[in-house]
Amino acid sequence: MLAGRRIVLGVSGGVAAYKAAYLARRLVEAGAVVRAVMTQSAGQFLGAQTLAAITGEHPVEDFWDEVEVSPHTDLGQWADAMVIAPATAATIAKLATGLSDNVLIATALATEAPLVVAPAMHTEMWENAATQRNVETLLADGVMIVGPLSGALAGGDTGPGRMVEPEAIVAALEEALAGAPARARVLDLAGYKVLVTAGGTREPIDPVRFIGNRSSGKMGNAIAAEAASRGAQVTLITAAAPPSGSAVDVVSVETAQQMADATWSRVADVDVAILAAAVADFRPTGVGDSKLRRGDGLPVIDIEPTPDILAGIAAMENRPYLVGFAAETGSLEGARRKATEKGVDLLVGNDVSRAGSGFATDTNEVTIYTSSGESDSWPLLSKPEVARRLWDRILEDRTPG
Ligand SMILES: Cc1cc2nc3c(=O)[nH]c(=O)nc-3n(C[C@H](O)[C@H](O)[C@H](O)COP(=O)(O)O)c2cc1C
Repeated sequence: MLAGRRIVLGVSGGVAAYKAAYLARRLVEAGAVVRAVMTQSAGQFLGAQTLAAITGEHPVEDFWDEVEVSPHTDLGQWADAMVIAPATAATIAKLATGLSDNVLIATALATEAPLVVAPAMHTEMWENAATQRNVETLLADGVMIVGPLSGALAGGDTGPGRMVEPEAIVAALEEALAGAPARARVLDLAGYKVLVTAGGTREPIDPVRFIGNRSSGKMGNAIAAEAASRGAQVTLITAAAPPSGSAVDVVSVETAQQMADATWSRVADVDVAILAAAVADFRPTGVGDSKLRRGDGLPVIDIEPTPDILAGIAAMENRPYLVGFAAETGSLEGARRKATEKGVDLLVGNDVSRAGSGFATDTNEVTIYTSSGESDSWPLLSKPEVARRLWDRILEDRTPG
């Protein structure tokens, strides 16, 4: 996607400018031709020579020192896409008002190519009404805003304002180049590897019949799609139809054993595992090759336990952050017990016998349990909203401070 594409990298004056060097390297590695343009303040944080060494061309720093008569229009017309990373509050304000008093802003105004902006600043500056107004203006103008994340900031502070990682900016640039409509994206799961299981397993009785359950896979699909849209690398192991149009790696399985094998062979590699599938607890033994026939009399079907996928992960030495699901009917006491006994970080319990909750519905009413038995009951919500809150909760748990 980036091979041979001409990218203008704009760098403005914030501490995150050092990440612009990584970004330039990523773009060059992906085969892009990169030319950088810097504000005067950016030079306080990142040496122009560093960008020159990575991109093979000296960055444009001023209107007046260049060989080209008009560096901003030359660059703007040359670009297939432009990205500004980091974008300071000042640069965002100038962009929003078209105040072209430096060569970076002039280039951004002179280009008709898609523009991606990665803000970076202290929380107070990001949350300031003026900055938020300016960001809204940029979005309305068709600019793609990527981030910022919530996390560690310069000076030891923590909060929203941290620039997203270069990988997330590359992903946003690829989207912009592919003609995706501009939209703001908070990629707070960028860099996370995630595994989600979904759907109800089917345990064969004979070659045509199975023991199944009513799970549709909608909850797991929503969790996988939400993670992917927030920048995570997602593997979805599913016994149901996967979500359409989401950037997730799908592994299709049918039985509990297949789901266990697919999960266990991949889980050592992930940061978070969310087991939302409804996995059969029992399976028929001795399934033959031929269909059971009425004429052969009443069959006796013996059953045996299936593998406990959750317990297998909980017992791992370096296990990922682990979220289990418990579908209960009536009381959620079983879910609370599972949360404290199964070695999970979080357990999502729901009463599937309640209207609008559980299998095959578009909504869910869940209670979140921690391993110490504390609980948080959420109201009836759409499954995508449950997924969004669940990821917020996981990030809260995992982010120090
Ligand atoms: C140490 C230091 C760090 C700074 N970091 C940021 C920052 O992360 N984000 C920001 O918006 N401004 C930051 N500033 C303020 C900008 O450098 C200042 O607003 C400057 O005018 C931005 O100009 P530019 O957008 O043309 O590069 C910082 C200033 C200093 C002294």
